[in-house]
Amino acid sequence: MNLSERMLMAAKMVRKGNAVADIGTDHAYLAAWLVLNGIASKALACDIRKSPLENARKTVEHYGLKDKITLRLSDGFDDIEPFEADDFIMCGMGGTLMEQLASRAYWLKDKSKRIIVQPQSHAEDIRRFFVENGFEILCEDACIDSGKLYCAMAAEYTGEIKEKPISYIYTGELSKCAKPEAKLYLEKINAQLKKKLEAEKIHGSAEVACYLEKITLKTEEIINGMQADG
Ligand SMILES: C[S@@+](CC[C@H](N)C(=O)[O-])C[C@H]1O[C@@H](n2cnc3c(N)ncnc32)[C@H](O)[C@@H]1O
Repeated sequence: MNLSERMLMAAKMVRKGNAVADIGTDHAYLAAWLVLNGIASKALACDIRKSPLENARKTVEHYGLKDKITLRLSDGFDDIEPFEADDFIMCGMGGTLMEQLASRAYWLKDKSKRIIVQPQSHAEDIRRFFVENGFEILCEDACIDSGKLYCAMAAEYTGEIKEKPISYIYTGELSKCAKPEAKLYLEKINAQLKKKLEAEKIHGSAEVACYLEKITLKTEEIINGMQADG
């Protein structure tokens, strides 16, 4: 079974031998790939809607995975019990929605659990959630899939809230990723920030513009550091 580059990037962050919950599973391709490749011992494939779960059911039946994959109708983590999985993965949803879903599941604040996310947009919202709630982002990765740039990250609860550079929620741990896609991704984010900054200078508040300026300068410094390294 072939998984898209985007989902593969997130799948590689799952710990081997663990039970996995895939939130927003749609076709359950990710859950099926993790089980078929011997990475996940079992999987919960969850979605808020019945029709994606019907797609998931077809995948599970096609690959004969009924004993390893459980389908679950659930809004985010709401109908998942904490003991049902060790690694929780959310792919293809916006970072803002991911932040809302994760903040409702207080039990994710458990040092034995790992949260893996591949946000389609607003990655800064889920990074902010991690930073403000005592989670450490362990690693980040970036890739190009069908001509589009994506990022993914894995985080675990430590209980420590560490001070981070002003740009951190936009750059995260991507500066440590040696792949050219990571630099390209950060350049894309910086271009978006600069656009916001210009709009704020014309129509918005001086205070917000000043804040955005500081972030873009720090982001540029980080990107230039990546250039120097390699
Ligand atoms: C764009 S698809 C992504 C599917 C797959 N994870 C991927 O990366 O290709 C988003 C899926 O998330 C589901 N979804 C949206 N909001 C959700 C929520 N609150 N809880 C669970 N699933 C949700 C949608 O029904 C849809 O199947």
